[in-house]
Amino acid sequence: MPATRRHIIKAGLAAAVATSGQMITLSPSPTDLEMPVVGFIDEITPVEHFFVRCHTLTAKVDPATWQLEVGGLVNTPLKLTLADLKKLPNVTLTGVLECAGNGRSFYKPGMPGTQWKFGSVGNARWTGVRLRDVLAKAGLKPTAAHLLLDGADVPMGTMPDFQRSLPLEKANHPDTMLAWAMNGKPLTAEHGFPLRVIAPGWAGDSWVKWLTKIELLDHEHDGFWMKTAYRHPAKHIEPGAAVTPADLVPVTDLNVKSVIATPSDWTKPGSVTIQGVAWSNASPVTKVEISADAGKTWAAAKLSSNPSKYGFRRFSHQWKATEGQHTLISRATNEAGQMQPVEPEWNPSGYLYNAAQPRAIVVSAARPQTFQNTSGVPLEPPPVYQQACLTCHDDHMMQQQHLTRAQWDREVTKMTGWGAKVKDDQRSALLDFLTARFGL
Ligand code: HEC
Repeated sequence: MPATRRHIIKAGLAAAVATSGQMITLSPSPTDLEMPVVGFIDEITPVEHFFVRCHTLTAKVDPATWQLEVGGLVNTPLKLTLADLKKLPNVTLTGVLECAGNGRSFYKPGMPGTQWKFGSVGNARWTGVRLRDVLAKAGLKPTAAHLLLDGADVPMGTMPDFQRSLPLEKANHPDTMLAWAMNGKPLTAEHGFPLRVIAPGWAGDSWVKWLTKIELLDHEHDGFWMKTAYRHPAKHIEPGAAVTPADLVPVTDLNVKSVIATPSDWTKPGSVTIQGVAWSNASPVTKVEISADAGKTWAAAKLSSNPSKYGFRRFSHQWKATEGQHTLISRATNEAGQMQPVEPEWNPSGYLYNAAQPRAIVVSAARPQTFQNTSGVPLEPPPVYQQACLTCHDDHMMQQQHLTRAQWDREVTKMTGWGAKVKDDQRSALLDFLTARFGL
């Protein structure tokens, strides 16, 4: 097939998975949105770029009538409003939320499920109360051992209700929270308004959204989402091998991991900063190493000062990029000595992928044709670009930038503050253009 035709088809495919604004839409409804790798430049992930994972339609909760019920094996069953909760000591914790299925698409052999690549993970500041303070208010019976967590989401068709249980030990950990705010603002509907569970260091399946009920049980909940879904083998198995259900345990701790944000596919020769973020479970990241020769040699990257135990830790490394094809790899290690493996630990549902992923980079003076536009966003400027942006200065101001959509968004805000006339309904098309044309 001629190259031009192949190019058109490739562009068409890119458009099919295409971007909804900055996010990659894996499913519009129920909503599953992935953050592109350029998002790994931010230490705190803005809410607009934070991945969304929903098993059901987004629950719509009326804050006027919403209550949290605490019952089961407790001395005093409770019904709490948000105002009641806010009277308990408020806490804020920075922590990574990662979908258990992040990276599933890289497993071989593959398996069904949302085909996440890198970006079903983000790092936010969560504000709320300690779960153990809520439990103390209810008073637990001695037999209470697990918390059944249920949200306001309604199952679709005849699917089982999404309910999870959390062992009491994790619920009582001082870092486990019920949060109403994310990055200083009330949770959005997609992120679980008005209240969600924060289980730092654990995968997202325990971070129940739209929380309405906590029921204390003397056993692990035996519903579908505990006994069938979100389980993986406790020991190594060969890729593709069958596993008996008795050998499966619930997904809990995240794996240590890192992702390179930039360069993403192409860069000019010269001194290039390789940068990205690393994260882990309750054992913080202590080291990130970079290989620019497909894993033959490694060098320690510079780490940002550790901002929070459970959060993203930024890394950077100066690289002398020479013309040609190169393979970059980042590899993180945590305090407990766990290191990203070269081979992923295969499991039948594709959870907790954390292999050190090679990234192919072309180094050349000009961006190769095939990389010109894989985002599905047209490179033709929308009229607003001419009218609002090229009045005070010309393209040079934009040409020299290599910015993420978030950075362009802030830039447009700065420029509108300075007099650029961008209407609300023009902004998204302008940002699509700026990011595709003058992105990273
Ligand atoms: C009212 C005049 C004006 C308009 C309209 C304008 N700019 Fe600017 N812009 C400036 C000035 C002045 C500077 C240089 C500031 C400096 O050097 O510190 C600048 C600088 C920039 C820079 C360099 C980074 C920075 O912040 O200094 C970028 C990128 C940029 N503009 C983008 C845009 C975009 C995109 C638009 C359209 C939304 C736009 N500008 C519209 C006045 C304008």
